[in-house]
Amino acid sequence: MNVAASPNDLSEIIEADRNHVWHHLLQHKALETIDPKIMVEGKGMKLWDATGKEHLDAVSGGVWTVNVGYGRESIADAIRDQLVKLNYFANSAGSIPGALFSERLISKMPGMSRVYFTNSGTEANEKAFKMVRQIAHKRFGGKKHKILYRERDYHGSSITAISAGGQQERNAQYGPYTPGFVEVPHCCEYRAQWDVENYGERAADAIEEVILREGPDTVGALCLEPVTAGGGVITPPQGYWDRVQEICKKYDILLHIDEVVCGVGRTGTWFGYQHYGIKPDFVTMAKGVASGYAAIACMVTTEEVFDMFKDDASDPMSFFRDISTFGGCTAGPAAALENMRIIEDEGLLDNTTRMGDRLMSNLNGLMEKHKVVGDVRGKGLFCGAELVADRATKEPVAEKQMQAVAADCMAQGVIIGVSNRAVPGLNNVICLSPALIAGESDIDHISDAIDGALTRVFG
Ligand SMILES: Cc1ncc(COP(=O)(O)O)c(C=O)c1O
Repeated sequence: MNVAASPNDLSEIIEADRNHVWHHLLQHKALETIDPKIMVEGKGMKLWDATGKEHLDAVSGGVWTVNVGYGRESIADAIRDQLVKLNYFANSAGSIPGALFSERLISKMPGMSRVYFTNSGTEANEKAFKMVRQIAHKRFGGKKHKILYRERDYHGSSITAISAGGQQERNAQYGPYTPGFVEVPHCCEYRAQWDVENYGERAADAIEEVILREGPDTVGALCLEPVTAGGGVITPPQGYWDRVQEICKKYDILLHIDEVVCGVGRTGTWFGYQHYGIKPDFVTMAKGVASGYAAIACMVTTEEVFDMFKDDASDPMSFFRDISTFGGCTAGPAAALENMRIIEDEGLLDNTTRMGDRLMSNLNGLMEKHKVVGDVRGKGLFCGAELVADRATKEPVAEKQMQAVAADCMAQGVIIGVSNRAVPGLNNVICLSPALIAGESDIDHISDAIDGALTRVFG
């Protein structure tokens, strides 16, 4: 890789970026004195930036997306072949890759049957929210319209998605919010809210308490991440999901699982919910569906939900009156099909489980060595380490120290994630999500970099 070959071109690009690009999730003041980071090229687990520096990417494109790694020519070829044949037609009609990918996807999701294409995780979640609202109107006179979401979870960036978001630092200053969304407590046992033995069941019982307070006849759906991602990599405690499923059944509440991060292999199964024997009514997915090679997201439902929207063909208002223009782009499902083939043919689910175990074991080693590591959590290649100033009080380390750990790793050429502007006072979790192709040396390189950073930042 030789990105430094045309330094003049790149300095022009850096200026163009500095002058005209508004970056995501960034306070721009610093860019008045330092250059914006420009990523130029990627191959496998590696990335090169505009200075020519090589990085090992431990976060799959920054936000848990590039599941099959960079530089996949077969995906680029599949997209190109499809685009020259037919790039687009509105999804009121079908497409060859759309039909093939839907069939393939459903074959990995027993119990589910219909795929609604859209182009971001936010939008996929919005589709499910709209369906819940329409079902409330069709079957319950509009009453059973409330949607429960969980403290510390995130479901996207639109006003309605943040209304369903349990991360106050993402939401603040963007109100007023969409009405009808109600929060339930988080399930992070390390930050326990109840002193009990069966923590998972107790945390799920807290959902039932909210349902009873709101009135079960007003609650239409419960929307949860299988493993809370940006809110601190929170794996559900034992017993949690069984109880959640029971509660949903008891009160006729639709279960919406947001697999935008966990979906398509990240945790070692096709979907995160499949670890827990859950039967969802809606599953949404985005990031890993085509590993970022094309923008595609899906909202998947059961045949039972689908049937509710075609029961009365004589009523012109009874079907799902919704469109996503770019849900008709064929590049998405063409890329997604090839992405799925790669995961299967290269055995990446097994690799994810094995490498995830290695990463967790390395992180446990870091917890033994560094007092600052208070807890480690994870499933497959989605792992987190919560940093605390004091293990007894669990006081979180300062955000500046989290930034220093990330900057130290970056200087070593390893890109890690840290929770950021999410949960007030608790942006203290290192987040790791290397591509599913990671090998043993990549995993060890990542944990060694963190080891060095923790030593330098905390002594
Ligand atoms: C769990 C979860 N749901 C939804 C979203 C929103 O996805 P998008 O940014 O594609 O709209 C995200 C994004 O990080 C996410 O982590």
